[in-house]
Amino acid sequence: MALISTSSHDAAALLNQNEIVAIPTETVYGLAGNAFSEKAIKKIFELKKRPFYNPLIVHIKSVADLNQIATEISAKAILLAETFWPGPLTLVLKRQNTIPDLVTAGKNTVAVRVPNHPVALALLEQLDFPLAAPSANPFGSISPTKAQHVADYFVESSLTVLEGGECRSGIESTIIGFEDGSAVLYRLGSITIEEIETVIGPLKIKTNNEKTPSAPGMLSKHYAPKTKTILTETVTEELELFSTKRIGLLTYQNHFEHKNIVTNEVLSATGDLAEAASRLYNALHKLDHLNLDVIIAEKFPDHGLGRTINDRLERATKK
Ligand code: TXA
Ligand code: MG
Repeated sequence: MALISTSSHDAAALLNQNEIVAIPTETVYGLAGNAFSEKAIKKIFELKKRPFYNPLIVHIKSVADLNQIATEISAKAILLAETFWPGPLTLVLKRQNTIPDLVTAGKNTVAVRVPNHPVALALLEQLDFPLAAPSANPFGSISPTKAQHVADYFVESSLTVLEGGECRSGIESTIIGFEDGSAVLYRLGSITIEEIETVIGPLKIKTNNEKTPSAPGMLSKHYAPKTKTILTETVTEELELFSTKRIGLLTYQNHFEHKNIVTNEVLSATGDLAEAASRLYNALHKLDHLNLDVIIAEKFPDHGLGRTINDRLERATKK
C-alpha cells in the first residue's frame, strides 16, 4: 500500500537511494526521482506505465541551477524564467549531457521548471541533484491534485507520497520551447497565453494532437476519467439526450436541476477561472468514483485559463 508521509527528511533519504517519491507541486503531484540517475528514472517509467518516447520534466530549486542541465539559453528564455519562476512554466531548452537520455527520450532538449511549492522547494534544498518528475498518475489518467489521489492510484505499490495539501493551481504547467529563435507553446497550462505574450510578445501555438507531437505527452486522449465523458456548450439539451441514466455534471458557474443528475460539481459559482482550474481534477476524480453512466462537462469561455480547462476537457472526452 502507498504511504502518505509528512517527512521531507524521509523523502530525501529515499531519493538519495535512487528510490522514487511522489511530491506535491503547485500544479499537480509528481512522481519524482534523481534526474541524474538512470536507475531512478527507469522506476518512474515502470510505475507510471509511461512509454519511453515521452520525456520527463526536470525540477530545479532556482534559476541558478539551470546551467547544470541546459545550455545555449536565450535571452527570451531567461526573461521568462525570471518572470515566472518559481511557478507553473516549463521551458524546453538545449540539454546538457549530465541528463540521461531516458529523461529526454533521446531528444537534444530538456524540459525544466522551478516548482512554486514550499514542500517541493524544501525537499530540493536537501538534495544535491534535481528531480525528474511526470505527473503522479498512471499514463493517460486524471492528474492528482491531492496526496490521497496518488495513494489511491498506486495502492499496490510501496510508494511514499509526501503530503503537501491540495495543489493550488491544480492544472499542469504551461510548456514553452524555442524554434529558430521564436517561442512556441507546446502545452496550455496554469500560466495563460495572455500572461506570456505580455512578457515576450506573440507566441506560436503548437499544441498538436498527432501521434508524435512536439511535446509527446500531448496525445489527443489524456487526462481521462474511466467514465464516459461528454463536453457540451448546451448542458440542458445534452441532459435530455441522456434522460434515463445516472448523470454526473461538471459545470462552470451554474447549478442544473434534472431527475437523473446524481451530482453537479460547480467549479466556480462566482465565475473565477483560477478557482475553477484549481478544482477541475478533484471534481473529475470525485465524479469518476460514483459509478455514473455519463459525465457531462460544460464548455468554458475560451480565453485565459478557460482555454486551458477546455483543452483538458477535450482530451478527457476523446475516444
Ligand atoms: O505541472 C507539471 O508540469 C507537472 C508537475 C509534476 O511539474 N508535471 C507534468 O509532467 O505535467 P508530465 O510528465 O505529465 O508532462 C510532461 C510534458 C509531456 O507532455 C512531455 O511530452 C513534455 O512535458 N516534455 C518533456 N520534455 C520535453 C522536451 N524535451 N520537448 C518537448 N516536450 C517535452
Ligand atoms: Mg501528465
